[in-house]
Amino acid sequence: MIFRLSEEQEMLRQTVRDFAESEIAPKAAEMDEKEDYDRSLWDRMAQLGLTGIPFSDSYGGAGMDNLSYIIAVEELSRVCASSGVLLSAHTSLCAWPIDAFGTEGQKQKYLNPLAEGRSVGAFGLTEPGAGSDAGSLKTIARRDGDDYILDGTKIFITNGEWADIYVVIASTDPAKKHRGTTAFIVEKGTPGFSFGKKEHKMGIRASYTYELIFENCRIPAENRLGEEGQGFKIAMMTLDGGRIGIAAQALGIAQGAFDQALAYSKTREQFGKPISANQGLQWMLADMATAIEAARLLVYQAAYLKDAGLPYSKQSAMAKLYASEVAMAVTTKAVQIHGGYGYTREYPVERMMRDAKITEIYEGTSEIQRTVIAAALLK
Ligand code: CAA
Repeated sequence: MIFRLSEEQEMLRQTVRDFAESEIAPKAAEMDEKEDYDRSLWDRMAQLGLTGIPFSDSYGGAGMDNLSYIIAVEELSRVCASSGVLLSAHTSLCAWPIDAFGTEGQKQKYLNPLAEGRSVGAFGLTEPGAGSDAGSLKTIARRDGDDYILDGTKIFITNGEWADIYVVIASTDPAKKHRGTTAFIVEKGTPGFSFGKKEHKMGIRASYTYELIFENCRIPAENRLGEEGQGFKIAMMTLDGGRIGIAAQALGIAQGAFDQALAYSKTREQFGKPISANQGLQWMLADMATAIEAARLLVYQAAYLKDAGLPYSKQSAMAKLYASEVAMAVTTKAVQIHGGYGYTREYPVERMMRDAKITEIYEGTSEIQRTVIAAALLK
């Protein structure tokens, strides 16, 4: 085993870190406060080639591996978790299923602009009554000649309203339950497709989270992704990859909070010495750094397995479960190390602790990750 990134991966990390620190970090607190993302940052991600890292250059991608993409999400999230999930939902949940299951025509039409960052992607699975129980969808897609007609509501959709292209899972045969679900590519602006309420959230506040409403929304049959009845499998396979992205987001948040806490502990003086001179605090830092390193190994391992074409469903669930819990624990300790200052919006650790929480919830709660892991163990 070689625990070393390639020169290309290290270069990408440096490029993303420089971009994140110089261009995103100065805006992160304000974007959080205003619940708004600066579109020019997305355009910069596109210019830097970050919007299609793991896709072939014949579809506008950078032709790099998944691990490189995961490193990019980690580095963005180190300063701004909203930036991390923007790229992760776009890449893993929208561009990836189109790349994996799309026809040549669908890839030319949709993957190209997504990978080049001319379009932003989103994924519509969750519904009011179908969260963890993702198979019990009520959104219906009814075949009508050369079209399907979509009716229903999706909730909690990351990049909602902001995105241009949506991969939507709907039921084409409710009697067959999850085996009667189908995936579709839906363009913003399609008549009958509108947006409901925007969520006001505890964390990742600069990330847009919207309801999607489909009312008599006519989709050409050529926009069906995969076969009828394959929707649940496509969603599950998409989430297997998406969970590595969220694990990377959690890892980045934890690393960012740790870096802040370490620096603060060396400059903050109490009782005539830096607080880092206290063994109690040193042991906190040691535990935080060790947990982050363990999370990083799990996250990179999951990405490596995906790149190697090996099974990665269990490892991606393990990576997300562990990294998200590390993010919550590390950000909480980072606030503690900052004391009263850490509880204010003057220091980024306050935002990071709020941002960490969602990583234990979306793309499958920690409880669902344990279910997925246990199912793999008991198979
Ligand atoms: N890959 C391929 N196929 C899979 C699969 C996988 N990872 N997991 C399950 N399947 C298949 C099974 O083989 C089975 O196939 P058959 O019908 O042929 O037998 C079928 O799917 C049903 O499997 P289960 O019986 O295990 O399904 P279940 O209904 O018990 O659900 C679950 C399993 C793991 C709990 C699943 O529902 C789940 O992952 N729930 C969480 C949903 C989730 O993560 N939602 C996140 C929303 S997206 C989001 O959060 C985006 C965002 O904002 C950023």
